[in-house]
Amino acid sequence: MTASPPVIRLRGAGRRFGSHHAVADVDLTVYAGERVAVLGTSGAGKSTLLSMLNGSLSATSGEVEVLGANLANLSPSRLRAIQRRIGTVSQRLDLVNQVRVLHNVNAGRLGRWGSIRALAALAWPRADPTVTEALRRVGLPWAVHERTERLSGGERQRVAIARLLVQEPDLVVADEPVASLDPTRAAGILELLGVPGRPVTVVVSLHQPELARRHCTRAIGLRGGRLVFDLPVEHLDDRVLADLYTLT
Ligand SMILES: Nc1ncnc2c1ncn2[C@@H]1O[C@H](COP(=O)(O)OP(=O)(O)OP(=O)(O)O)[C@@H](O)[C@H]1O
Ligand SMILES: [Mg+2]
Repeated sequence: MTASPPVIRLRGAGRRFGSHHAVADVDLTVYAGERVAVLGTSGAGKSTLLSMLNGSLSATSGEVEVLGANLANLSPSRLRAIQRRIGTVSQRLDLVNQVRVLHNVNAGRLGRWGSIRALAALAWPRADPTVTEALRRVGLPWAVHERTERLSGGERQRVAIARLLVQEPDLVVADEPVASLDPTRAAGILELLGVPGRPVTVVVSLHQPELARRHCTRAIGLRGGRLVFDLPVEHLDDRVLADLYTLT
């Protein structure tokens, strides 16, 4: 049996903004089915790293390979094809606030459809069973025809998760997807990120190490853009966390 290739392979990957190294020299290999928590203080580079994984930010040094492709060498159409297989929940959520929830959830699968079907879905959105089921799973069955801007922050966060569920991605890249949720709801949403029966790989930034321990298999710590640990979650103890979160 041959081992399957990694879903993510970073080699010396970094991202600079001007002279500031937001992410520096990160080596990271993630295999199918792993659930990786990204931990670190505000400004540690979590969002930057996740944006490098879904191709929305390019690396300024090193290599980023995702789903078998080196993201630096792709044509725009090949990059879009890879991105259709990556489900992203960004810290800003990237929802269209002026339209109904249904439109935002549907957007998750437009990339898989031909342009005529996608245009028809935009013009005449229907709450078909896939959309209804996704909204039920995030606890918003009543919201399908609501205007997105009327929802609370936590509800909008769950709409972004429903959009990801209908996309059926191979890789989930989620940036603080439970930041606005109460603890019970947060746990339920993290359960949803892995799709039962499919080897979905998840990379998720979290501010609560307890959620990482419960819902992830592995945790990485970023400090000043550098990887300071990469551990199975069982080894995420108070000493490791104190080192990570002590402000200097
Ligand atoms: N577009 C940008 N231009 C300039 N600097 C940036 C940009 N994006 C991020 N940075 C800087 O890079 C560093 C890392 O930012 P990043 O957003 O990745 O941190 P984070 O760990 O996600 O923080 P938070 O927990 O607050 O979301 C910060 O110092 C930030 O100011
Ligand atoms: Mg961030």
